[in-house]
Order: sequence, then C-alpha cells, then structure tokens
Amino acid sequence: MSDVAFLLNGTPVRVEGVSPARTLLDWLREERGLTGTKEGCNEGDCGACTVVVSDEAGSRALNACILFLPQLQGKSIRTVEGFADEAGRLSPVQQAMAECHGSQCGFCTPGIVASLTAAVISGARDHDRTLAGNLCRCTGYAPIIRAAKAAETAPLPVWVTSDRSRALPPVMNRSRAAWFAPQSSDELAALYLANPQTRLIAGATDVGLWVTKGLKDLGPVAFIAGVKDLQRIEETAEHFRIGAMVTLSDLLAALSPHFASLGAMLARYASVQVRNAATIGGNIGNGSPIGDSPPALIALDAKLHLRRGDSRRSLPLEAYFLDYGRQDRQPGEFIEWIEIPKQADTLRVAKLSKRFDQDISAVLGAFNLVTEAGVIASARIAFGGMAGTPKRAGATEAALIGRALSDETLRAAQAALETDFTPLSDMRASAAYRMEGAKGMLARVFAEARGLKTDLHEVQA
Ligand SMILES: Cc1cc2nc3c(=O)[nH]c(=O)nc-3n(C[C@H](O)[C@H](O)[C@H](O)COP(=O)(O)OP(=O)(O)OC[C@H]3O[C@@H](n4cnc5c(N)ncnc54)[C@H](O)[C@@H]3O)c2cc1C
Ligand code: FES
Ligand code: FES
Repeated sequence: MSDVAFLLNGTPVRVEGVSPARTLLDWLREERGLTGTKEGCNEGDCGACTVVVSDEAGSRALNACILFLPQLQGKSIRTVEGFADEAGRLSPVQQAMAECHGSQCGFCTPGIVASLTAAVISGARDHDRTLAGNLCRCTGYAPIIRAAKAAETAPLPVWVTSDRSRALPPVMNRSRAAWFAPQSSDELAALYLANPQTRLIAGATDVGLWVTKGLKDLGPVAFIAGVKDLQRIEETAEHFRIGAMVTLSDLLAALSPHFASLGAMLARYASVQVRNAATIGGNIGNGSPIGDSPPALIALDAKLHLRRGDSRRSLPLEAYFLDYGRQDRQPGEFIEWIEIPKQADTLRVAKLSKRFDQDISAVLGAFNLVTEAGVIASARIAFGGMAGTPKRAGATEAALIGRALSDETLRAAQAALETDFTPLSDMRASAAYRMEGAKGMLARVFAEARGLKTDLHEVQA
C-alpha cells in the first residue's frame, strides 16, 4: 500500500494506502460518491466512464475504468461533477447537449460531455473521431454531433489553466510500497534488474482488463508511463526514434505526415480515450498476434532497442516475436526505443475488423512495395492475425520482387500467401475468411500501385 495525491475537480486529494489495482472509476463511485461517472463495460469500450485528465503536457479524455489510481499521481482529474462553473452554471458543452437534445436515458451523457470537453480544449473538430469511443444506445448520434458543433467555438473551461499548472508535491511511498513509479529510464532499468518479477504497467489498456475482467492479482508492479525520457519522439536525418512510453495518440500525430496510410490505420486504433493511454511499448511488449502497430513497423524495417540494467541490445522487430505468447525478452529487460528508418511514403496498411472504429483487427496487412518503371524493386510485407505472432510474408515477398505489376504476379503472390500463413478460426474470423481478406488486401495494394483508387483504408467485415 502507498499514497497518491492529485487534484479532483480542483481540490487537492491525498489517498492513503492505495492498492495498485484500485481503478479510478471504482474509487470515484465507491469512496467519493461521484456517481456521475458511469460504469458500462468496465473494459475501455463504451466511454461511459470518460473523465478529463490534465497535467503540464495538456488535457485528455481517458477511460476511468482501466486507469489505476497510481497512474494519476500529480495529475488533475475532472469528472462530470466538476465541469460547471463555481456558480453552478452548466459548461458550454453541457448546455449544448441539453439544448440539442443530446441525451435520453442519460447513461452515456457524462462520458460524452467529458469527451467533447476534451475536444473543445484540444481544438479537435472531427466529432466522429472524438466520439468513436463513446457508445450511446438511445439518443442517436445526430443530436450529439449537433451539440458538438454548437460547442466548437466555446471558450475554454475556466479550470483548464489551473488544472494543468497546479503541480502537487510528490508523495513518498511508504517503506513497504506496493508499487514502483520510476521517472527515468535509468531508474526503471535499476529497479527492474533488481526486481525482475515486477509487472510493468504502461497505459494499462491491456493490464487494466486483466484486473477488471480477469480478476487477476497483479503482484508487484511498476507504473512506467511517467518515464519522461522515453515519452519522446526524436528525428534524425535517417531515423525516427520513438520512446516506448509514447502514446498511440502522440504516435499518430507524429507519423501521419510521413506515413499517411499508417496514420489512417492508427486513427482506427481503438478510440481517442484508449489511444491517449496506450503506449507503443505496450502494443509491442504484450506480444499480441493482433496488435495493430507491429506489422506496420515490421514492414517499415523497424528495430527494437531493449535494455537490461546497463546493457543494451537491438534487434529487428520481427525477430522479437518468437512464438505465440513468447518474445525475445529476458527477465529484467524492457523495451526502450523503437527505431524506424526514414523512407519515401510507400507503406500501405489495411485493417480488417467487424466495426470500422474501436475494434480489434481480424487481419492487419502492411505492405511496403517500391516499384520502378512498373517492376517491383523491393517488398516488405507483414501481417497480424494470420499466425501466432505478427509475421513477415517471406514467400509472398519473393513472389513479387523483380516482377512486373501484372495480374499474373498478383495471382502468384496470392498463392504464396497460402504458404506463408495457416491462419486460425476464432470469434473474429474463420481461417478461410482471414486468408481471403489478406488476398483482397494484396489485390487492393496492387491496384493502388497501378494508380487506381481503392477502399484499402476502409476494409470491414
Ligand atoms: C477498448 C480497447 C480497444 C483496443 N483496441 C486496440 C486496437 O484497435 N489495436 C490494438 O493493437 N490494440 C488495441 N487494444 C489493446 C491495447 O490498447 C494495446 O495493446 C496497447 O498498445 C497496450 O499498451 P499499454 O501501454 O496500455 O500496455 P499495458 O496494458 O500497460 O501493458 C501491456 C503489456 O506490455 C508490457 N509492457 C508495457 N510496456 C513495456 C515496455 N516498455 N517494455 C516491455 N514490456 C512492456 C506490460 O508488462 C504488459 O505485459 C485495445 C484495448 C482496449 C481496452
Ligand atoms: S465503463 Fe465502458 S469504457 Fe469504462
Ligand atoms: S442517452 Fe441513453 S445511452 Fe446515450
């Protein structure tokens, strides 16, 4: 047990003896009686629990159901009870929701107000994107979007500046602290080497579900999202170096101008709330065969930089994934950086999922083809959802390199996909459907390479 301090609706709060697996949502509702923040799915999907969290880096919408209290140390939290001004007048977003009839049963409304408030603060105008992680089952989205438009030019809430700047003093963990919260990569390296059984928690968008749905006891944990030197994206003449604690939101903003198709895919990665928490280190570190970023990064020939104590090593990202549930990572070793070589924007990424937004991929295909005078000069192709790990399509690449962009080449490459992969059937898709989906993606990439427009970025089941 340890203590945590933060601002809650403008008031400093110190929570003593916090268990590391206590979620913000449970604490708000059970201990503070702030029941405006709702529990819907308790797994990051529905957005009923959305709150606005601020620090010196800005304000963002997050799902309280998969946020552990220690992740909030030193931050400011606004719940729906804290959006009105001191005289109790509704905020412009709340007023617009009321005037546009944006609420019926009201269960989703606090989360929607929180998401729209964060959008007003950041200036985001793509309301579909803002609300992709907020499910409303009764109002229908037209009145909600009308409210979002009406609030677009609203003045910033008066509390934004003070919420960001009122830094709280750090709270010292008690002697038998139940968790670590390293602030630098050196600190993380030392404590993880000395305590290799510690479970690393970055954005908790996977680990949160192990607690809320799996009811797991996490054991000793380290909250690592606050490691400042790994929250950076560095650009050199040859590379992008991405710190493991960079969030998917920051990754989307930084890489979209360089890799448009990757940006289009990342915009469909979960929702704003999940992207604001999830880190690239977590998306690789979990070793999932259906993580969205690894196939795209493999197609870009990314390198993974790992650190254990003071020793560092690097390897091609594809070599990190050994088998289902098994990665090339030693006890006490963690992901520090991901390095992407700079190149022309030849990457094409397609995500096949049942819903367009806020859905895990059935298949994700990433294609990096370079053509010269109608001939494929080089090809790096990787898939997620087609094997027990994110995996490169070696036979398919071989069937393409040095060949013309012809129907015959496409057919040969599609046949080679069958030797590269033996996909599984599960609740997301059957094996046959996955294979057909992968072949269809390749056909679209071919068509685009021949100058045609396709729906590559909108592939849905
Ligand atoms: C509603 C919802 C929708 C989602 N949609 C998508 C989606 O569309 N696409 C997708 O790919 N994923 C999706 N996810 C899964 C999840 O967001 C990602 O896997 C995410 O990137 C995990 O990052 P995190 O920082 O939250 O990791 P955490 O949950 O904190 O950690 C995940 C794992 O990675 C390990 N880890 C974290 N950082 C490091 C590090 N630096 N070094 C070594 N190991 C590390 C942890 O120990 C843990 O085992 C979704 C999740 C939710 C809840
Ligand atoms: S309760 Fe559904 S996202 Fe949190
Ligand atoms: S108003 Fe009922 S769920 Fe949205």
